[in-house]
Amino acid sequence: MTGLREDTARPAISSRLEGLRNLSPAERLDKVAQAVDLGDAEHQSFGRGGLPLALANGMIENVIGTFELPVGIATNFTINGRDYLIPMAVEEPSVVAAASYMARIARAHGGFHTSSSQPIMRAQVQVLDIRDPHAARARVLKERDAIVAAANAKDKMLISLGGGCRDIEVHVFDQTPVGPMLAVHLLVDVRDAMGANTVNTMAETVAPLVEAITGGVVRLRILSNYADLRLARATVTIPMEALKTEDYDGERIARGIVAACAFAIVDPYRAATHNKGIMNGIDPIVVVTGNDWRAIEAGAHVWASRSGRYTSLSSWEIDRDGRLVGTLEMPMALGLVGGATKTHPAARAALKILGVQSAQELAEVAVAVGLAQNMAALRALATEGIQKGHMALHARNIAIVAGAVGDEIERVAGALAASHDVRVDRAKELLEEIRGGT
Ligand code: MEV
Repeated sequence: MTGLREDTARPAISSRLEGLRNLSPAERLDKVAQAVDLGDAEHQSFGRGGLPLALANGMIENVIGTFELPVGIATNFTINGRDYLIPMAVEEPSVVAAASYMARIARAHGGFHTSSSQPIMRAQVQVLDIRDPHAARARVLKERDAIVAAANAKDKMLISLGGGCRDIEVHVFDQTPVGPMLAVHLLVDVRDAMGANTVNTMAETVAPLVEAITGGVVRLRILSNYADLRLARATVTIPMEALKTEDYDGERIARGIVAACAFAIVDPYRAATHNKGIMNGIDPIVVVTGNDWRAIEAGAHVWASRSGRYTSLSSWEIDRDGRLVGTLEMPMALGLVGGATKTHPAARAALKILGVQSAQELAEVAVAVGLAQNMAALRALATEGIQKGHMALHARNIAIVAGAVGDEIERVAGALAASHDVRVDRAKELLEEIRGGT
């Protein structure tokens, strides 16, 4: 099942946007606004920093201000034959450029293909003080219909949208520090919501019924961030020759990527960094759309540990036609309605740029970008290393810190990177030379 809709409301766009990097931020915003038909308010929300103080003050407690991050646009993405421009809120240089670069290689070979499960979240109801946990489990399962009906009794809106509690599971813990324990799970289709409020309310609603059925005492009633029933997947297939660079042939790069992934598959120390690279692509989309990045991180890493050993979230293989194939499947509990996604003006504008019609579509886009980011990191690590690319971008920052403006930035950065001497004092010297005409 895919979350991508055929009858999408927005006309098709091109994600190529050539020359975007050579424009000023304001010009880039204009170009993106034109491409996706941003309204005036959406256009202005980025320029103004996105979040008015009065709105921020209503979102959390003891507000003293807001905190900004750069928002960049990753270009070139084709996902299931449709082009997407990807807004990313992130502080790390290289992330946006790397995603765009990999997406450009991929788009010439069909781009990314994605699918997703139904948006099912779990709520947990913890039951203590039970002598007969296995018999209690059987009693709860026998009353499945009554529990599902009780869970669904309150949220008529969700039911009208085609969501609602679908089923239950009961997990038995024979021995815990506080005696036998049951965890009753509600499996809830939350549609376009992230779902935390929905499932937490349901868990609280069914608690008295669960106590009556089990004869135990209910304590915790809360969602699980291990969203293992809410998965999104992406694949990309690239002929080896399409990977070649000036210094490395395509086969060397493809086999290098497979070997790099093998390292992450067997070694948790490497897997943590490998998966961090994947999250470099995903978190900026989660943040810019006003979603809960802690929930996404928690889900990603427990999923990566589901075999009992922490491992790679992605797979890279060579198929029978000798092409490099990347796959990423992981929990992706993202919402389009509720929370900051609705209240934060820049999040709304980001969703407009993305043009997604459902939370599943957003989840699939995020996983495709995560896979692109992973490919970029492994490609660089398997060949020249990541410092060369990082240093080029770092050099721009250093040039700006040294006082370079306009086209001085590229000139100073280029000279710094070429000399492998990326320091502020060297940048100041270069700037003086440029300004003095020497
Ligand atoms: C840096 O933010 C991310 C990488 O370390 C990911 C990786 O090692 O795969 C480059």
